[in-house]
Amino acid sequence: MRKKIVAGNWKMNGDLNESISLFKALESRKDEFPSDVEVMVAPSYLYLHELANRDNSGIKVIAQNCADNENGAFTGEVSATMLKSIGIESCIVGHSERRHIYGESLRDIAEKVMILINQNMQIIFCVGEQLSDRKSDSHFDVISDQLQSILSLAPSAFDNIIVAYEPVWAIGTGETASPEQAQEMHAFIRLKLKEAYGNQANLSSILYGGSVKPSNAVELFSQKDVDGGLVGGASLNTNDFIEIIKAAG
Ligand code: PGA
Repeated sequence: MRKKIVAGNWKMNGDLNESISLFKALESRKDEFPSDVEVMVAPSYLYLHELANRDNSGIKVIAQNCADNENGAFTGEVSATMLKSIGIESCIVGHSERRHIYGESLRDIAEKVMILINQNMQIIFCVGEQLSDRKSDSHFDVISDQLQSILSLAPSAFDNIIVAYEPVWAIGTGETASPEQAQEMHAFIRLKLKEAYGNQANLSSILYGGSVKPSNAVELFSQKDVDGGLVGGASLNTNDFIEIIKAAG
């Protein structure tokens, strides 16, 4: 179902107390969330169990990453099964920091997608070009390549996919894609999904990410193919994050 979604990616920020406080502050203001917007946060693995198991928080707790293997001798990794066993139903895959800082390949990312699909988990699948790709006018090709991992799933599995378009040059830089640039790429992504899945693609949520803030959220989210946002820095500030959530409603 094409839903409006605002997801906060906390990345590697906050200790246990700070994470609980941030979550509680958000939870205490859940009445301000527009009823048609699904709110998600992705804290560190360490705090998922604590935060995912609070009753009626109105906030879906999701993972930032998972292993590209099901189980076994992979020191330091966390599997999709482990996440599922503590009540986590959704996971971000292919974030640009995973692709570019940790060298995750298209193949690694495709493995994660398959593992999560086999667990019947929801995936927030991130794609995004680098500045050099945009400058050389190859941004559509890059996004098209990155999308390949989700373009040949069974239609029933595709229901569990949310796409997030996050231009790398706009992440954590203060630089945002213009609403027109965002819309243009979201429409392209929807077209690719349609070629693979037909009209079912009209029901997929496509989120924008990259320096979303209260001052630009309304304009970005009002674009035809932008269904909400994946928010990094601004999700660590309760007031800012709530303003962004309201902007999606
Ligand atoms: P940002 O991060 O909002 O801090 O740019 C977005 C993201 O990485 O998901």
